[in-house]
Amino acid sequence: MILVTGATGNIGSALLKELRARGEGPLRGLTRDAARAVFPEGVEAVEGDLAETAALGPALEGVRSLFLVSRLGPDADILEAARQAGVEHVVLVSSITVQTHPHLGPACENLAVEQLLEASGMAGTILRPTQFASNALMWAASIRGRETVHAPYARTALPTIHPADIASVARVALTEPGHRGRTYALTGPEPVTVRQQVEAIAAALGREVRFAEISRRQARERWAAVFGPEAADAVLDVTGGDVNDELLKVRDTVSRVTGVPARTFRQWASENADAFR
Ligand SMILES: NC(=O)c1ccc[n+]([C@@H]2O[C@H](COP(=O)([O-])OP(=O)(O)OC[C@H]3O[C@@H](n4cnc5c(N)ncnc54)[C@H](OP(=O)(O)O)[C@@H]3O)[C@@H](O)[C@H]2O)c1
Repeated sequence: MILVTGATGNIGSALLKELRARGEGPLRGLTRDAARAVFPEGVEAVEGDLAETAALGPALEGVRSLFLVSRLGPDADILEAARQAGVEHVVLVSSITVQTHPHLGPACENLAVEQLLEASGMAGTILRPTQFASNALMWAASIRGRETVHAPYARTALPTIHPADIASVARVALTEPGHRGRTYALTGPEPVTVRQQVEAIAAALGREVRFAEISRRQARERWAAVFGPEAADAVLDVTGGDVNDELLKVRDTVSRVTGVPARTFRQWASENADAFR
């Protein structure tokens, strides 16, 4: 049995779809609200909250492989519950910031989870993706409302990754030999600026979308209200304020692991155009 956490999310939903399409299984998807979740036919939906580890027994029963999105609950307890339930292999979603910005709070937390997995006695595969193409969904309301998209660091080009590529790497790691004990830094196939992202969404919609660069201070005011000041600063650093070669680097890990080239931002925009209509 493979248990997918974050199963209704960007990566988890793509992972269940891909596993199902390839006839892998049995499969179980974890969600806090099974009535709302839509899973592919044949996937067992299980209700559970990763913040309430003591109640994860039914979700973990019979599970041998676990796809775990980090930091949705107390990861030390989640990993211990998985170990006790007989899980043999965990594919963990961490973040590339562990190696690009190890001093930042979220990166420290992800590194701690990676280390917990390594010490757990279970086999682990660690995925360290860079920023997701799906982060562009934060502009969906503005674009639907025909308002101008505002973002800082318009000239910074990062190798944004399509979440389905993270899912493809996870699928291979979960179902094929040779990936236990490995850590994969994952990026998209090319650097793309936020301005180019907005242009790709406009092309997918077939209409103009206005874009205006804002300062770090202006962006911080907006984001601190949503994420809190520390997280806002961390996001601003890793999206342009404090980039480094390690973050800017395009990596071929997706194509090496899956045998298929990584998807472009343009592909993500055309697949997700309806979210902006
Ligand atoms: N965005 C980026 O640029 C970026 C970059 C690097 C790493 N990451 C990492 O990627 C992960 C996010 O992945 P994603 O985009 O696929 O997720 P997502 O689309 O944001 O979805 C979050 C998922 O988590 C589930 N969830 C939230 N709280 C939960 C809880 N208490 N118990 C059980 N499930 C819970 C939700 O399921 P229900 O609502 O159905 O319960 C949903 O499926 C995070 O770990 C983040 O740190 C993100």
